[in-house]
Amino acid sequence: MPRLNTLMMVTQLGHFKLWYAGAVQNWPLANYELAQIRANIVDARKLYPNKSESNMSTMTPPADDLDDAIKAKDSAKFVKAFAKLTATCNSCHEATGVGFIKIRDPRLSPIETSPFSDESFSGK
Ligand code: HEC
Repeated sequence: MPRLNTLMMVTQLGHFKLWYAGAVQNWPLANYELAQIRANIVDARKLYPNKSESNMSTMTPPADDLDDAIKAKDSAKFVKAFAKLTATCNSCHEATGVGFIKIRDPRLSPIETSPFSDESFSGK
């Protein structure tokens, strides 16, 4: 059975890809990546049914907002909903004692661009 952090790393990749798909308005890809993130959340819950760390219900409202934005092909709405999703990642990290794992919008500068540019490693 995968450990929670393995699922999280896959979710991080999905978070990056979802953002990128939204940035270039590839709505079918965005829809696909959002579905993958939701599936990971379901897996996390199944694997750790009794752990507060895996109570992913807070992710549902921002994921639903993203769904609406994708269906409407609305970039502005997408950006807003994506920020909400990211904030939800971070609130759970804070609540579960891993607040040092800080997720953010990916960066597109040549130096910082990487699949992990949606995480700040600076420690502040
Ligand atoms: C309900 C709580 C919760 C939510 C929501 C959540 N996480 Fe996590 N996350 C955790 C916990 C707990 C850990 C530490 C897991 C461990 O150490 O086994 C973690 C760890 C991580 C890690 C570190 C993995 C590693 O080993 O380097 C990343 C990256 C991550 N989460 C990304 C995300 C992203 C992106 C989202 C939102 C799309 C998210 N998380 C939403 C609880 C959550």
